Amino acid sequence: MEKKRGFILWLTGLSGAGKSTLSHGLESVLKERGISVEVLDGDIVRTNLSQGLSFSKEDRDTNVYRVGFVANLLSRNQVGVIVSLISPYRDVRNKLRETTTNFIEVYVNASLEVCEARDVKGLYLKARSGEIKGFTGIDDPYEEPMNPDIVCYTSVETIEESIAKVIGFLTEQNYLTDA
Ligand code: ADX
Repeated sequence: MEKKRGFILWLTGLSGAGKSTLSHGLESVLKERGISVEVLDGDIVRTNLSQGLSFSKEDRDTNVYRVGFVANLLSRNQVGVIVSLISPYRDVRNKLRETTTNFIEVYVNASLEVCEARDVKGLYLKARSGEIKGFTGIDDPYEEPMNPDIVCYTSVETIEESIAKVIGFLTEQNYLTDA
């Protein structure tokens, strides 16, 4: 039987950069192409797999490693996995690249100014007022990827353009055809 190669599209970026929107857009397009897809989204993961974890560095790393572990189980079995996590620490993302099957780092890049102006969940306002402490980009770090495989500039590209960029990469790297 011919088999597709699995992959992990690891979407990293600030809260409000557009990771979830892009992941669901990609999910639809990939499903239409007959790929088995799973989305692992931070907001959902934190209500089950990572329930109770805080936003300390240690707990964020635990969250990222757990999701990486599950993503790897799926990707090595021909599933296309889309992960949507802030995953702010570079060293942890780099470690995942080394230890997982077909890890593709996608930097969902929107400036803090843009994310804060959008403030989709109203959390930046709370972070600025001190109601939330340790918010990524405000009083907690976000370490940009040094060598991402793909960068989507969500404040200047349309969602269709960002999706096309990712699909183009997967096509070039032969992830969408039978191996
Ligand atoms: S990660 O750092 O562990 O990768 P994750 O992607 O799971 O983060 O969760 C981020 C989401 O949690 C944000 O989009 C936001 O809705 C919410 N959140 C709540 N508190 C914080 C915080 N202190 N820093 C960042 N995001 C937070």
